[in-house]
Amino acid sequence: MRLALASPMALSLASTVLAASNFTEAPIITNSQQGVLYEATLFSKQNTSIRGVVTAWAPSNAIGVKFHVDFWGFPPDVRGPYPYHIHLDRVPQDGNCYSAGGHLDPYDRGEQPACDPNQPQTCQLGDLSGKHSPVYVAPNAQFEAEYTDLFLSTTKGSDAYIGNRSIVVHAPDGTRLNCGNFVLLEEVE
Ligand SMILES: *[C@@H]1O[C@H](CO)[C@@H](O)[C@H](O)[C@H]1NC(C)=O
Ligand SMILES: *[C@@H]1O[C@H](CO)[C@@H](O)[C@H](O)[C@H]1NC(C)=O
Ligand SMILES: *[C@@H]1O[C@H](CO)[C@@H](O)[C@H](O)[C@H]1NC(C)=O
Repeated sequence: MRLALASPMALSLASTVLAASNFTEAPIITNSQQGVLYEATLFSKQNTSIRGVVTAWAPSNAIGVKFHVDFWGFPPDVRGPYPYHIHLDRVPQDGNCYSAGGHLDPYDRGEQPACDPNQPQTCQLGDLSGKHSPVYVAPNAQFEAEYTDLFLSTTKGSDAYIGNRSIVVHAPDGTRLNCGNFVLLEEVE
């Protein structure tokens, strides 16, 4: 049995599995800065009816970031799923969501395979809908969610910092529908 396990076939299978998971798992953030509130408001664009606000702050134990997500104005004939993510770059005033670059992914996980919400430490940091569920809405209804993401940070300088990034809401086919930039709304000494 030992010989069989050490066969070239078994070794190459083992290394295939390793290669497929060859990225750094996201560490849990334990020092998120307290007393700061960030908010991203989706643009008031002519070519989409989707609007929304995402607020983010550190929970009192400083572990990760707490998010409150409100989106509305989705087309009444499409329930979802509408994915949404934290993207790297800020969107300029023209509201072109394609200026937002890729997803926040400092540990180089890449897009594939899809995020497993049962193993959020293996997902892209910015993949909020992968980890916490995409948007599904009843016709003309609002989407609201609140959750803590353990792997993001409100601390400037951290790889996991969200405060200078953007949010993009996608159509089910991946088209970028609307977006907004996080801004510091409030700082309590
Ligand atoms: C796996 O990660 C290591 C260290 O980050 C890197 O040197 C190596 O090239 C990676 N291998 C593959 C197959 O991506
Ligand atoms: C919507 O309008 C913005 C400018 O406000 C533009 O950058 C974007 O490409 C347009 N999106 C679509 C899908 O037409
Ligand atoms: C955002 O802040 C991080 C450090 O926390 C920095 O590495 C990155 O360059 C900044 N990005 C932008 C778009 O300002």
